[in-house]
Amino acid sequence: MRATTITLTGAGGQIGYALLFRIAAGEMLGPERPVRLRLLEIPAGMRAAEGAALELQDCAFPLLSDVEISDDPRTAFDGCEIALLVGARPRGPGMERAELLAANAGIFGPQGAALGDVADDAVRVVTVGNPANTNALIAQSSAPDIPPERFTALTRLDHNRAVGQLAAALGANPRDIDGVIVWGNHSATQYPDVSHATVAGRPLIDALAERRGGVDAAIAWLDAEFVPRVARRGAEIIEVRGSSSIASAAHATVEHVRSDVLGGFRTSAAVVSHGEYGVPEGLICSFPVTSDGSGYRVVSDLGVDERSRRLIDASVDELVAEREAVRSLGILP
Ligand code: NAI
Repeated sequence: MRATTITLTGAGGQIGYALLFRIAAGEMLGPERPVRLRLLEIPAGMRAAEGAALELQDCAFPLLSDVEISDDPRTAFDGCEIALLVGARPRGPGMERAELLAANAGIFGPQGAALGDVADDAVRVVTVGNPANTNALIAQSSAPDIPPERFTALTRLDHNRAVGQLAAALGANPRDIDGVIVWGNHSATQYPDVSHATVAGRPLIDALAERRGGVDAAIAWLDAEFVPRVARRGAEIIEVRGSSSIASAAHATVEHVRSDVLGGFRTSAAVVSHGEYGVPEGLICSFPVTSDGSGYRVVSDLGVDERSRRLIDASVDELVAEREAVRSLGILP
């Protein structure tokens, strides 16, 4: 089988290091598909990327046909079929939100333009680097010849965190939990929603009510514990581990691409809005999605109750504010 060209930015960083070996082992695209890896770094990260490439060689992965490292986006994205945009500028001490958005626009704008110029016609792009949704929007706006639907941002980690919390609360296997949705922004405003979720085929809210002594108590637990814990899980990991989420972020990236490219069950991903659920058009917002292998599509026919509407709107408002901030900096039209 022909090798698929995957470009990873930030390949010398922590998530890059966790991700590369799983891709090369065939976990992202399956055990039949060879991969060609292109690693993009800034000059300061090149040695770390080179070191990772040496270790990839030492693993002698049968599916890994080639590894190239570059600090030039046009070289690294040449012929790219799957782009994993992980490298980003972290928030420095005292940095304002506008400065963070501008610094990242300086990365994701040129990378989007390079993708538009040199990537494969069928390229699919996932943004992991934060602020992920707005970085994806900037990259997408810089590549007008690539259909906007091909740009996605990672909220699969939030989705998996939600499933993990529910499995623990219900004493269930994560495999039996279905239909969880993460809405909105990959930030503390996100809304993990269980109103359409099931556990072993039964409404999850019923199972939760049984455990917590009624529907009101179940909803109180969702509002007071579940939603904030999932939304702030990243901060909790930093506090406990002394470092941000790495292996779980890499795992979610593997699963995000896998479900997109190979198809699968309903999950959550940030994709471009065409106005579904009243989300303003053009925003890259997390929705319930499915894919038949040809790319994520929003599942657009689910009912939204009043509580969910309020929580979705709060996160969407933040996405609108980020887009406005980027526009006012002259970065987006
Ligand atoms: P890290 O700091 O260890 O690595 C980032 C790497 O990107 C560095 O090696 C850096 O040199 C490189 N880089 C910076 N600018 C670049 C550019 N213009 N081109 C290519 N490479 C560039 O960070 P880590 O832990 O790997 O995280 C990466 C990003 O992922 C961060 O923005 C983090 O906030 C985000 N993240 C997103 C999650 C999500 O669920 N969407 C979850 C966890 C992290």
